[in-house]
This record gives sequence, C-alpha cells and structure tokens, in this order.
Amino acid sequence: MNLTKFTLAAMAAAFTVTLAASGADTKLPPASDKKDVTYATDIKPIFDANCVKCHSGDRAKARLHMDTLEGALKGTKAGKIVTVGDSAKSFIVKSISHATGERDEWMPPTPNKAGAKTLTPQEIGLVRAWIDQGAK
Ligand code: HEC
Repeated sequence: MNLTKFTLAAMAAAFTVTLAASGADTKLPPASDKKDVTYATDIKPIFDANCVKCHSGDRAKARLHMDTLEGALKGTKAGKIVTVGDSAKSFIVKSISHATGERDEWMPPTPNKAGAKTLTPQEIGLVRAWIDQGAK
C-alpha cells in the first residue's frame, strides 16, 4: 500500500468510528411532523395508558408524576427528563426508545402488571414532536 492509499484507508476507518460513536441518535424513531402537538391533546393519552399507573400519586416511582404537564416537566427525584426543544437529548425519549445503556432505564418496564405497553415508533414520534415544539 502506498502512502496515499494508506492515508485514505486510515481516514475511512476514522470516519466509521465517528459514525459509530454518534450512533445513539439513529436508534431513535423520527419526530412526527404533526403541527401544534400539545400535552393535553396528543401526549396525555399515551402517558395515561403506559406510565401513570406507576408514576402518579403518593407512591410515584422515582417521584416522577406523569399525570400532569407540570409533573412531566419537573422530572424525577434525580432531575429533568425533558430537555425542552431538544427531543434527541431528552432522557425520556432515550428511555422509551430503549436507547440508554441500562436496561432498567427502559420504560415502561417489561413485563409489567400495569398493562403498560412499549411505545410504538409513532407514539415516540409524537413525544419527540411535543418536546421539539416546546413541550406545551
Ligand atoms: C409498571 C410500573 C412502571 C410503568 C408502567 C412505568 N414506569 Fe417508569 N419507573 C418504574 C420504576 C419501578 C422505576 C425505578 C424507580 C426508582 O429507581 O426509584 C421507574 C423509573 C423511571 C424513570 C427514571 C429512570 C432513571 O433511571 O432515572 C423514568 C424517566 C421513567 N420511569 C419514565 C417512565 C415513562 C415515561 C413511562 C411510560 C412510558 C414509565 N416510566 C412507565 C416503573 C414504571
């Protein structure tokens, strides 16, 4: 291999590594292109069906309250799960997309006795659009 070929091969290898390192985002389903997505109209029904049984009331897991907009924005005892305006950075999106390193962060847990189901790519897309549009 001459020097030019070697340099090109090295650059290609470095590029591949860079792509792999940024791969986390590619696991996320794309944001929905629906306009004017709000908690009340689009998001609450998804959270009510799949999160609220464990994340509401006095015994809310991780002290996270998913039954109100305020609760979802406030986050857990450890901090915020919504990064308003940036769904790809939001912990909740990684959690519901199974894109975090820790399996026990994947929500809802499976199996569970709350009747909560893994969100569909369409539902995750709505959650992403909601956050990207300002989490109103
Ligand atoms: C069957 C019960 C159950 C359901 C349903 C459920 N969760 Fe959880 N969730 C838990 C438990 C248990 C924990 C861990 C609590 C702790 O560590 O104190 C948790 C923790 C979390 C955390 C914090 C994770 C961390 O490591 O910081 C987030 C965020 C979360 N849930 C979001 C959700 C969302 C969003 C939904 C709905 C899509 C959901 N959960 C549905 C039981 C549930």
